[in-house]
Amino acid sequence: MSNTIKRGGFSSSFGVLAATLGSAVGLGNIWKFPSLTGANGGAGFLLVYLLATLVIGLPVMIAEITMGRAAKANPITTLQTLSPKKSLPWWLVGVAGMLASFLILSFYSEVVAWVFAYVFKAIGGSILSSDRHVTESAFSALISDPVQSLLWQWGVLVFIGGILLLGVTKGIEGITKKLMPVLFLLLLVLCAVSLTLPKVAEGLAFLFKPDFSKITSGVILTAMGLAFFKLSLGMGTMMTYGSYFRDDQNIPATTVRVMLADLFVSMLAGIAIFPAVFSFGFEPSAGPSLVFITIPAVFSQIPGGQLLMIAFFILASVAATGAMLSLMEVPVVILHERIGMSRPKATLLTIAALVVLGASCALTNNLLADFKLFGKNMFDLFDFASSNVLLPLGGISLALFVGWVWGRDNFQRALSNQGTLHNAAVTGAVFFLLRYVSPLLILIVMLKGLDLF
Ligand code: PFF
Repeated sequence: MSNTIKRGGFSSSFGVLAATLGSAVGLGNIWKFPSLTGANGGAGFLLVYLLATLVIGLPVMIAEITMGRAAKANPITTLQTLSPKKSLPWWLVGVAGMLASFLILSFYSEVVAWVFAYVFKAIGGSILSSDRHVTESAFSALISDPVQSLLWQWGVLVFIGGILLLGVTKGIEGITKKLMPVLFLLLLVLCAVSLTLPKVAEGLAFLFKPDFSKITSGVILTAMGLAFFKLSLGMGTMMTYGSYFRDDQNIPATTVRVMLADLFVSMLAGIAIFPAVFSFGFEPSAGPSLVFITIPAVFSQIPGGQLLMIAFFILASVAATGAMLSLMEVPVVILHERIGMSRPKATLLTIAALVVLGASCALTNNLLADFKLFGKNMFDLFDFASSNVLLPLGGISLALFVGWVWGRDNFQRALSNQGTLHNAAVTGAVFFLLRYVSPLLILIVMLKGLDLF
């Protein structure tokens, strides 16, 4: 089926970089990365994260992109095409990826919904208060209202779906090429302001001061899990984007650039947030309360705070848009190529499915507050099932597939642009990591995530 469908693709090298970086950069950079770094030993945690990225993140990212580019197809067809023994159901890894994308989209789209709503609240000025109780009740008024929660989520889905309808080149590449420079510009402005505040040193110390006593085995595992989520790995997102890569694109160089730029964004986000948080005497809390309760209270005390707050939530919306596009592209391209639906129909069906599935997360803080499965509400359950089960399982499967099934020759040939790039040492090292090291380490992350040891 896929051979008969004309595929879109990224048209320029900058477009490849913008789209791929757009996927990696997301809400994860804004609340997960800085607060996890600060809470887990600053520079020490950063070092562990970097190691995890080198031995797990980069090899798996290279594997996914190389496989996608070699097969030029959606994740299910890619695994089918590259598998020498068609009798073994490797394509199920693609199906698991699609499931993971639906689960992540269900809760991620709700957080993006709050971010979008906050752009308007920041413009309207209703959250401009230095009193944390005021910003706290504004946030709880939003999330406890089922109608607002659903409508904002639907708005996000339609917005992202609308961009996807423009196609891969005009939609994903075109938009991320415009958004990435805006993202960096806004971040730099916010950092510049934050660095003028009184408690800069305290904020930076929270983020960077190494405290190696905090590096426990649990923290190492947290860093590895973060590397996975941050770089959008283990669910076919990077494989799908790889299928749009140009044949002359240098994959290892691109992945290293994406990983470094993503890290840079996380660092800048931390520099923009923590000096400000400390300067006004707040606790560096993590998760939604940092973004939706503390940040508004902090910014309202800075001269020009309303504009900065608007800039901050636009920045978060920009980051979230690139990540959402990549998440939604996975089911869209699968439905398009496997079932033969047109892209518009595939996009509409994906949105419709997410309206239903996502509602369980939009209603978690209101109508479904008491509804629990396996002891968790739907929001937490989807987060847990995707991050702690499906992504690591996908990562292990993909590493094993390349290392033991697709094999060294196929992998090296595909990775080296059919022999035009002679980086045998790099490709050999990546293959070694994929075959022996990454699967084992990911397994440890997963077992820890499941509290099995
Ligand atoms: N990398 C994104 C972030 O850090 O927010 C989240 C994400 C996007 C995870 C795409 C998985 C994915 F496929």
